[in-house]
Amino acid sequence: MPDRDAKDRQLDGSRVPSDKLNMTTDQGIRVDDTDNSLRAGTRGPTIMEDFHFREKLTRFDHERIPERVVHARGAGAYGVFQLYEPLGDLTSAAFLNDTSTPTPTFVRFSTVAGSRGSADTVRDVRGFATKFYTTQGNFDLVGNNFPVFFIQDGIKFPDFVHAVKPEPHNEIPQAQSAHDTFWDFVQLQPESLHMIMWLMSDRAIPRSYRMMQGFGVHTFRLVNASGQGTFVKWHWRPVLGTYSLVWDEVLRIQGNDPDYNRRDLWEAIERGAYPEYELCVQLVPESREHDFDFDLLDATKIIPEELVPLRPIGRMTLNRNPQNFFAETEQVAFHTANVVPGIDFTNDPLLQARNFSYLDTQLLRLAGPNFPQIPINRPINEVRNDQRDGFHQHLIHESRTSYAPNSISGGCPAAMDGYRHYQEKVEGHKIRMRSPSFEDHYSQATLFWNSMSNWEKQHIVAAFLFELGHVERKPIKEGVVRHLGQIHPDLATQVAEGLGLPAPAMAQVHAGTSPALSMTDQPQSVATR
Ligand code: HEM
Repeated sequence: MPDRDAKDRQLDGSRVPSDKLNMTTDQGIRVDDTDNSLRAGTRGPTIMEDFHFREKLTRFDHERIPERVVHARGAGAYGVFQLYEPLGDLTSAAFLNDTSTPTPTFVRFSTVAGSRGSADTVRDVRGFATKFYTTQGNFDLVGNNFPVFFIQDGIKFPDFVHAVKPEPHNEIPQAQSAHDTFWDFVQLQPESLHMIMWLMSDRAIPRSYRMMQGFGVHTFRLVNASGQGTFVKWHWRPVLGTYSLVWDEVLRIQGNDPDYNRRDLWEAIERGAYPEYELCVQLVPESREHDFDFDLLDATKIIPEELVPLRPIGRMTLNRNPQNFFAETEQVAFHTANVVPGIDFTNDPLLQARNFSYLDTQLLRLAGPNFPQIPINRPINEVRNDQRDGFHQHLIHESRTSYAPNSISGGCPAAMDGYRHYQEKVEGHKIRMRSPSFEDHYSQATLFWNSMSNWEKQHIVAAFLFELGHVERKPIKEGVVRHLGQIHPDLATQVAEGLGLPAPAMAQVHAGTSPALSMTDQPQSVATR
């Protein structure tokens, strides 16, 4: 049994023992019979007065809450993060400076497109969201298992998700990217192509959550005590290595065990085979912001590791399963804007949108503004402010005042070591326009293709054929194939042939002329049978 960390001890106050010998109503009234409703005569109608019956049914009727609008299906686990060495030169974040006390964490892995009841082993992106319960408050690293994203600006997110989700008329298909709306979006939005290459690769069918990488995707910022900033990309690397399934396995497992990844995570933790991930950073000094042929603010781009190597900074061990799926895994609320002093944002327009969207959706999903009081979401340090009231207020605030400044009961003075936003100089015209530095949608897709071994390329082509094979409208398929021609002629030719389409006119812009870089962050894995 691992040592009990601060979060585990905090949860003691919320745990209800499993003993049900003395059943009560929610009001604490002992129940004498829960098998028979109160009736007028043994064969007569049920009587309204039966408060136990009404409460039991009402509570049941209200058990479901809205599923997450994306990433609805997930599995969670608690863990601890151990820092290797203090990072004071880079960040003032306490948990990135203290090697003596591990930081408690909660991780939720998820698929993106499917509903809560969908199968685990679908071709999809996987979420890898981590909540660090630090002594300075919660830091959420809300990442995916791919290092890039489909879109560059968060204003496109509703369009993208509407295209990905089942088609509106018949809710088909449930969880896969094998349909017209998805590929229509892709052909009209070529910024998605780099991500599409990852999605058609074996990375989209991970063998296990224990064998999956995680990425913060965006460029974030570390800020040290002197206010100096450094750009950072976050990477989780599984200690077991990165492994994928192959497509035949996927199809079979979906039928045999739709809970395959969820079960694997649960059982590994139960038997003490704790999943471990190394946290690594790619660091870019602010002086090098414009040294690359892509924009650091563009979430459809990686920073190749040849240009900026990974630096391991610590290790997370998942060592405890939740006790109640709904209370913990379903009610956990991650948010990219949950940062601690020493960690800050950049102007990546996708990140900026996320910083709005998560809180907004959680106000609906978790019914009001008090969801940070739900045990899984509570920080381990004390929460003090003048916020009050709202649905499901669980706390009794003793103060007679809830405004600042005030002269009656002291108010809530701001902390001297409080969160200070990075003082970035910003100027420009108010304008709705994508930066020209975001324009290249093909080079890194080509880089990805070129970094693949032959069998990996075969799997990618097969995936395109399977997914596009389900698309009804020929012009959509042709549109996608035209883009593939911009990525690599071999890819476009093979996909066109497989679909019975004419080979597209090759632009040859990038094919064969992609940078001499390989992407060392690409699957070193083997597909396993
Ligand atoms: C949920 C990752 C882009 C909105 C999630 C979750 C993850 C994630 C891991 C699941 C959290 C959980 O387990 O509870 C990402 C990544 C993105 C991205 C890595 C891009 C780099 C976006 C964008 C938006 C967005 C651009 C909106 C503008 C949402 C929403 C949820 C969600 C609304 C549901 C949250 C909830 O109900 O608690 N995302 N996402 N995401 N994401 Fe994203």
